[in-house]
Amino acid sequence: MKSRSEGFAGRAGPRYWWFRTVGRHYVPPVFAALTDDEWSVLEAWFAATDAMRPDTGECNVPAISVLHGLVMGSGIGHVVQLGHYLGYSTLLLGFMMRRMSRRRGVFSIDIDAEATDFTRAWIARAHLEDYVQLMVCDSADPEAPRQAHRYFGAEPDLVFVDSSHQYRQTLSELDLWYGQLRPGGLLLLHDASAFATQFDPRGEGGVQRALSEWLKRAPVPAILLNEGARPGVAGDTLVYGDPCGLGIVQRPL
Ligand SMILES: C[S@@+](CC[C@H](N)C(=O)[O-])C[C@H]1O[C@@H](n2cnc3c(N)ncnc32)[C@H](O)[C@@H]1O
Repeated sequence: MKSRSEGFAGRAGPRYWWFRTVGRHYVPPVFAALTDDEWSVLEAWFAATDAMRPDTGECNVPAISVLHGLVMGSGIGHVVQLGHYLGYSTLLLGFMMRRMSRRRGVFSIDIDAEATDFTRAWIARAHLEDYVQLMVCDSADPEAPRQAHRYFGAEPDLVFVDSSHQYRQTLSELDLWYGQLRPGGLLLLHDASAFATQFDPRGEGGVQRALSEWLKRAPVPAILLNEGARPGVAGDTLVYGDPCGLGIVQRPL
C-alpha cells in the first residue's frame, strides 16, 4: 500500500510534477510530519481542488519545505502570507503552528474574496481557526501591516510573498512589508526566477526584476535561489528543485 503522497506520482496534472520526478519517490517531511487526521484533510483538499481545476497554483514541495524547515526549525510563530488562494500553504503553515502550540501564528492576505471563502472553509475543517487569520485586501494595502500587528501582538518574523507575480505590485509589497519585519526577520518570495517572469501578466519582469532592482536600492542580505532558471529547465536537474525560484531577504539584526 502506498503511504500518503507516494501515490501522487501516478496522478496526471502539472501540480503533481514534483512527485513524478526521479529520486523523489518518498514522502516529503512537510507531509510526513502531519497527523493522520491532518493528512486526511489535506488529501481531501487535493481531491476537492483537483475536481475544480487541473492546476490550482499552489506553491510546490521545494518551496513549502524551505518554509517548513525555517518555521519548525526555529519555532517561528508570526508568519504573514501574501496570497493564500485555495489554502494549500495556509493549511500547512497552520498545521505547523498547531504542532508548535503557536496560536495566532499565520496572518494571510488575498485580494480574492471567493478564494478566501474556500480557504476559510478548509481552515475550519482542519480546526485551525485559533492559528490562522485570513484577510481580504490588496497585499500592498498600508492598513494590512497594522492588522497583522494587532493579530500577532508583535512584528512579523517572516513574510511569505506568493501573490500577483507582477513587477510593480512586488515592488510595493517589498516597500511595505520589509520594514515591518522584526530585526533578523525574513522575507521569502516565491517565483523569483527568470522562468517565473512569464507569470507577470503585464510582462514587466515579475518578481525577479522587482527583487533585483529593490536590492540595488536596499542592499540587505539576500539570496535568489535559481534566479537564472529559464523556461524549459526541468526541476529534477536543479539542486534547489523548484524552477520557479525563491528569493530570501533578511532584515539585518
Ligand atoms: C499563487 S496563488 C497563492 C498560492 C498559495 N500561496 C499556496 O501556496 O497555496 C496567488 C494568489 O495571490 C492573490 N493575489 C494576486 N494579486 C494580489 C494582490 N494584489 N493582493 C493580494 N493578493 C493577490 C491571488 O488572488 C491568488 O489567490
